[in-house]
Formats: sequence, C-alpha cells, structure tokens
Amino acid sequence: MRSKAVKVPLNEGEETRRILRKEGILRKDLVPIKRDCFILFPVEREVEGFEIVEDDFRPKRKRINSYRDIVNIPNKLKEILPSSYDIIGDIILIKIPDGLKSYQREIGGALLKAHKSIKAVYHAEPVRGELRVRNLVHLAGEKRTTTIYREYGIEMEVDVAKVFFSPRLSGERYRIAKLVKNEEIIIDMFTGCAPFSLVIAKHANPKIIYAIDINEYAIELARKNVKRNKMLHKIEVIHGDSSKVVRDLAKKGIRADRIIMNLPFRAREFLPDALEVSKDSTIIHYYSVLNENQIEEHIGHLKDITNNRIDVLKINRIKTYAPREFYICFDISVSKPA
Ligand SMILES: C[S@@+](CC[C@H](N)C(=O)[O-])C[C@H]1O[C@@H](n2cnc3c(N)ncnc32)[C@H](O)[C@@H]1O
Repeated sequence: MRSKAVKVPLNEGEETRRILRKEGILRKDLVPIKRDCFILFPVEREVEGFEIVEDDFRPKRKRINSYRDIVNIPNKLKEILPSSYDIIGDIILIKIPDGLKSYQREIGGALLKAHKSIKAVYHAEPVRGELRVRNLVHLAGEKRTTTIYREYGIEMEVDVAKVFFSPRLSGERYRIAKLVKNEEIIIDMFTGCAPFSLVIAKHANPKIIYAIDINEYAIELARKNVKRNKMLHKIEVIHGDSSKVVRDLAKKGIRADRIIMNLPFRAREFLPDALEVSKDSTIIHYYSVLNENQIEEHIGHLKDITNNRIDVLKINRIKTYAPREFYICFDISVSKPA
C-alpha cells in the first residue's frame, strides 16, 4: 500500500520510531521497510525535521487475540460463545452450547486460526461412565485424538477420546507433589494415564507409587508415560479394580503413607478399601464434586462410613464444575480404629 514515510539512517531508527509514536503519526497498519542503511517509517502525514519519501508498504497482519474476534456467526449469538476451553497438547476440547450447534464447525475453524499450535478441535460432552471418558465430535483440523501434553517438567501421551484427562488439575497435582515427604509409599487409586503419579515422582522423592486403573487403555498410556519420563524405578502401574488391588496390597503387608482418590462421584464407595491399606496418619486426598451447602453433610457421611477414623485437614476448592458446584479435594488424615 502506498504511503508517505519518514526516512532515517538505521542507527536512528529506534529514536525516530519513539518520536513518531509519541506524535501519533506512525502508521500502525503498515510494516516499516529496511533498505540499504535506511529505515522507512510509514506516517499519517508529513512531519518537520525529517526527510519525507513515498513508497509501497506491506500491511501488518492483525493480531488475533481470541477466536471470538474472527468467528463468523451472527452478532447476537456471540455472547453465548464459550469463553473457556481445554488445550491439551495440540488439541482443543470445547463444549459448544446447544444454541451454537449449527455453527460448531465455524467455531472449530476459528479456534484453529486463533491458535497456531493447535492441530485438532473437538466438541466435548461431559465425562461419563465408569471410565470417565467423553463423547467427542470432530470440528476442525486433523482427526486425531492422541497428543503429547507437558506440565511441570513431565511429558505425557494422552488420548482425549479413550482416557480421562484434565489440564485444569495441573496446579492440584503440583500441590500434592509438594506435600510428599521423602520415601513415602503412595497409592494413586484412579490413575488414568498417570498424571498425579508422574508429577509426584518428578517433584518429590517417594519410595514407590502404585498407580492403578481399571481402564486398559489408560494403563497402556500410563506404562508408556512412566517409561517416557524414566520413572520405572518409582512407579508401578497396575491394571485392575482398585477395590481389589488395594486389598491385595494390604494382604502383602503394604501400608500407604498417602492415597490419591481422584474419582469424584464414586470415591466414597472405595473409602473402606483405602482404609484397609492405610495406617495411623495416612493422608488421603479425596476428590468430590459438591455444592457449597453439601460439604458439611458429605464430611458427616465420610465419618460414618469410616467409623470416625478420619479428620478433614483441608478443603481445597479446585475449580467450579457447574454453577455453585465445586471440584473439591478433601485432605484427610486417617487414625487407628478405636
Ligand atoms: C476422574 S479419572 C482420574 C484420572 C487421573 N487421576 C487424572 O487425574 O487424570 C478416574 C479414573 O478412575 C478409573 N476407574 C474407575 N473405576 C475404577 C476402579 N474400580 N478401579 C480402578 N480405576 C477405576 C477410570 O478409568 C478413570 O481413569
């Protein structure tokens, strides 16, 4: 695009750019040109004290701040566009509201354009069933559900279609890792592809972590991830129903210093099993999804099923799950049977 420009020697470039910006005459829509030992700044109008020339300039590419800036949907629908979504490696999972279903591919395309490193976009239904996996609908990019995800110095292969995974728990995983003391025996009862176990093994020095899951495919990934992060000496991956596996560990005389129970909605059923493999002062990180006003009642239930063998040390509200509902971790201390 043709424009008037200020021409200065290269070594006066930065100072000139500052002056032109301050005067408000530097054109922000065009890219300056470096030629020989000079630089040409496109300007809105002539300015005294500088050599003025005319030239052809390349327009600057507009920076996209959000997919919302470029998505092509009726304006009245823009207010129901999701403001958040999960980025897992090079895959985006987004929940498209019902009112936007007919524009879901347009939204997927806009997300791809707005995030240069993203290769695939899926609409994700809520997690469900025993394996806590989600139905996905492909919206844009490659039809691929496996990716490499990194957090806190670990690298994991994740399959967003076949295994539960949430990047929103990354801070929680690191919080637990920082609580672990030297040489602890840890049981990760619902390990998935092993993110808790790996972050702990990386940032603490446990004696051993038993990482258990009933989902065969999650276990396959967990094994690969343990190997990939060179943690074979720290993490033993076990395929099976945790209820049985922890009782078998207890029979072998194993007692855990710390147990992670990340199975919201059902962890309560497994609490008696966790107690079998506990000792006095074992710490259990027990996850649940609860409404604010259900918390006290839930603690009462936990005390009932454990014959008052537990004390809640801390309640950590990790994220909102639905309006007024939280993904919560109860840090629980176990005491001896009375
Ligand atoms: C909410 S996911 C948590 C996965 C992992 N801890 C994470 O944070 O990504 C719960 C996991 O529990 C597993 N699961 C469900 N019932 C189980 C059982 N009876 N024994 C072992 N694992 C089970 C599911 O397959 C799923 O991977």
